[in-house]
Amino acid sequence: MTVYCFGSINIDHFYRLPRLPAPGETLAVLDHATGLGGKGANQSVAAARASARTVHLGAVGRDGAGMLERLAALGVDCAGVVQRDDMVTGHAVIMVDDAGENSIVIHPGANRAQDLGAVQAALAQAALGDILLLQNETDLQPEVAELAIGKGLEVIYSAAPFEVEATRAILPFCNMLVLNAVEAAQLSEALDMPLEDLPVETVVVTRGSDGADWIARGAPPIHMPAFAVTAVDTTGAGDCFAGTLAAALDAGLPPTDSMRRATAAAALQVTQHGTAEAMPDADAVAAFLAEQDRA
Ligand code: RIB
Ligand code: NA
Repeated sequence: MTVYCFGSINIDHFYRLPRLPAPGETLAVLDHATGLGGKGANQSVAAARASARTVHLGAVGRDGAGMLERLAALGVDCAGVVQRDDMVTGHAVIMVDDAGENSIVIHPGANRAQDLGAVQAALAQAALGDILLLQNETDLQPEVAELAIGKGLEVIYSAAPFEVEATRAILPFCNMLVLNAVEAAQLSEALDMPLEDLPVETVVVTRGSDGADWIARGAPPIHMPAFAVTAVDTTGAGDCFAGTLAAALDAGLPPTDSMRRATAAAALQVTQHGTAEAMPDADAVAAFLAEQDRA
């Protein structure tokens, strides 16, 4: 089966700092690097490295050829990506402090100029039961989700970066919602309903060092504890979790095993600097889990 991921592609500029700057403050960086990022591209790479056949749907600008080369080199089929000469590629300024925490600003660029016709053309190949994974860094999310669910795809929505209205608009067209604990609390408050009552089949809540929960309609919830690791850079960990989870479900793994793989992959991802390029592959995740089983 195939994971189709509709989402952002960014050029990530990393600035490593001893601490995040306060308003009005000027700080010199310890280190600067650029890499492939964007929540969409990150999730595609995580899914591909977890061994799923992965097709990315999205848009880059005139300066996007290098990012597409990296996406392809990391195992993602870029056939569904449009290149627009009238726009720039999205980019992100990511500040990471010594504790591995980050602050991010993004310039959406071509990510907010998606082409529904191109998405339709790419999804023409999709089969019943394939997965469509999407996030919040583009436009046209509800349209694409509606198209995919209408074709019988399983729609997994990673609600990041979180916006209540965007999430509300897309909920009717998704099977699974993946979000962190803070976002889950905001959503349940805004919609005035417990997570169990949201109009989706499954809600997955990531809780950092407290692990993750799988809450499905009419089934007992599943809690997956986190693995203890030393984080150097948590940027992209949520994307790693979502992409790995989609790949595991696409491979037919049951919920508990899928959650375990996603949790392990995210644990490994935070031990590396970077976003897309820091996604662990299936062998690394398997080795890590085998080591945990022995301990
Ligand atoms: O989730 C991490 C990502 O957020 C980065 O890669 C950056 O591009 C922003 O989209
Ligand atoms: Na990382």
